[in-house]
Amino acid sequence: MATASIRDVATSARVSVGTVSNVLNRPETVSADAVARVNRAIEQLGYVRNEAARRLRAGISTTIGFVVLDGQNPFFQEVVRGAEDEASRGGQTILYGNTDEDSARESLYLDLFEEQGVRGVLIAPYGDINQRLERLRQRGIPAVLVDRFNGDGRFSSVSVDSVAGGRRATEHLIETGRRRLAFVGGPFDIRQVIDRLAGARVAVDASEHPVELEVIVTDALSIAAGSSAGRRIMERTRRERPDGVFAANDLVALGLLQSLVEQGVLLVPETIALIGFDDIMFAAAAAVPLSSMRQPSRAIGQTAVRMLLEQTEEPGLVPRQTVFQPELIVRSSTAPPAR
Ligand code: RIB
Repeated sequence: MATASIRDVATSARVSVGTVSNVLNRPETVSADAVARVNRAIEQLGYVRNEAARRLRAGISTTIGFVVLDGQNPFFQEVVRGAEDEASRGGQTILYGNTDEDSARESLYLDLFEEQGVRGVLIAPYGDINQRLERLRQRGIPAVLVDRFNGDGRFSSVSVDSVAGGRRATEHLIETGRRRLAFVGGPFDIRQVIDRLAGARVAVDASEHPVELEVIVTDALSIAAGSSAGRRIMERTRRERPDGVFAANDLVALGLLQSLVEQGVLLVPETIALIGFDDIMFAAAAAVPLSSMRQPSRAIGQTAVRMLLEQTEEPGLVPRQTVFQPELIVRSSTAPPAR
């Protein structure tokens, strides 16, 4: 007799496949009545939860393809770690790649995942890849966007609200008395950069104080790009320098801090306050502990895998957007200026 599938259990218990998956993985999130019905169906059908073996027998892959924008960024390392933890709980493995913010590499990885017939794809996209993901979906390979809100709702996504985060980071600089602000980040074809600056502009426009906001564009979201921007700031006269900087992510912020310290004059926070985004593990350990907007990085990875596996179990599932709110973490890099 063929082993009962998760779908057979769902039908017998009169619940969705996603509910059966939750009963097996997160029973605390399911009503007691549904748990009882599912467990009764599992017993009656003799359902065997050896998902990996069942999938192998059915020729279903147990590999998830995951490609991120920047593998050197500790933020993505934490996201991938969360994805790996959740994937292994479901008997899956992660085939991981990094695009270095390069759309040609991104396309190569998607071709590889298609050739490998992976079970599904998680992707922190560089550009607009909806058409490419649509082609994968038609091949039976679902995708979930990571770190990118999917506005047209064609695919599920897990991300943080970068507009709200940009607004809160900028409000914090204004609350500490800074008035000549600079947003440092780029390139501006990365959605997160656009959204964080948009949030900063909302905060400046809403402020009751006369606040200036300039934009210093970088060619990448990296330490080197931040350090280069810091040197440009130091070439200015004291009066022309910003008194508060919001960096698009922590790597840019750490680069800024490095160049400001290298000049031998520790300007942070005495003359320039500095705040980043992500709250990576090095933020707290920086020469001047860095204030930042914390992202729930591991939870983003875990949630993305859960949403992908639900879709593989229920291909007709309507895509949904999971958006986390970033948290302001205040450290000495934004201490109020000495009176
Ligand atoms: O890589 C782009 C940036 O966007 C990361 O630092 C992280 O903030 C992500 O949301």
